[in-house]
Amino acid sequence: MIHTQSFDVSKQSIQKAAQLLRSGELVAFPTETVYGLGARVFDESAVRRIFVAKGRPSDNPLIVHCAEKADVGRIAEPLDEPKQALFDALYEAFCPGALTILLPKRSAVPDAVTAGLETVAVRFPAHLIAQELIHAVGEPLVAPSANRSGYPSPTTAQHVLHDLSGRIAAVIDGGACAVGIESTVVNILTESLTILRPGSITKEQLDKVALAQGFQPFMYASGKKNGEKNAVPLSPGMKYRHYAPNARVLLASSLEEASLLATTNSPALILARSEYADGATVHELSEQSLYGALRKADSEGFHTVILVCDGEVQNNIALMNRISKAASKQ
Ligand code: TXA
Ligand code: MG
Repeated sequence: MIHTQSFDVSKQSIQKAAQLLRSGELVAFPTETVYGLGARVFDESAVRRIFVAKGRPSDNPLIVHCAEKADVGRIAEPLDEPKQALFDALYEAFCPGALTILLPKRSAVPDAVTAGLETVAVRFPAHLIAQELIHAVGEPLVAPSANRSGYPSPTTAQHVLHDLSGRIAAVIDGGACAVGIESTVVNILTESLTILRPGSITKEQLDKVALAQGFQPFMYASGKKNGEKNAVPLSPGMKYRHYAPNARVLLASSLEEASLLATTNSPALILARSEYADGATVHELSEQSLYGALRKADSEGFHTVILVCDGEVQNNIALMNRISKAASKQ
């Protein structure tokens, strides 16, 4: 058991955190989506310890976080001309931000990072502390969400400490994450452009860029079902149970249905869109609040969480993706 330090966001603290990372330690840091658990991308032993600290299956690859577009050349091979133009256009439109793009992996990147895959996932976080930290280390950082594998992703430093205290060297406390769910992950290397994980950057936004570059719209990866030959394979991480609290998660289509379910499943925490939330019996359901609320259910002893998925929630593909996974018994 190691003592996990909690750092503020001062320049001095960032330097201390960078020093820990340079010496092979793991440090959690804020990004605009969720907190990430950082290690130097070229430090294979530190990368391996990330999987141990999180209890993460070793076949689930990590995202490499870069502070500058120029860093890409250190981890990825060049693209052909039309794909490079598409990458440049996506970068221009959404980066830095909540978009992760697969690129051909350079052999310098340890296999542990990509779980042996030929592709490497790259993201440019918009959070200034994340950028400062990567600059201070002088090398891109791998960073999965800084939670115990399978539990909801952390959107505050307290969530990180709850899951990983004693297992990592430090966390930088940058307050609550603005976006609240993980980045959109896309594969532009295959013939059809695919969304491997939906996020706050939507298919509509991505399609505008793809079409302007002469490509077909993106497809959602749906996973291979029995007998289905042409389905696009999911991202390795998408097959695991995710985002689930210990409390049982039930879905309702209206507040009335949720109230009814609550009477037979008490004590229950009800989450619904902010216009229904009263802060007493009904709490807010949004991208920003979902993971914190799922964690709150456990920390406050609720046996059940009831999520009101009305039409508007169902139209939010990224939010529904996380809700379905939290509710899945798999
Ligand atoms: O917003 C985010 O993306 C956060 C913050 C910290 O940046 N990170 C994050 O990392 O969510 P993680 O490890 O929890 O999720 C990474 C996802 C997994 O589903 C993984 O399978 C997928 O990205 N992934 C990573 N590399 C891949 C690759 N080469 N091919 C396909 N999927 C990949
Ligand atoms: Mg994760």
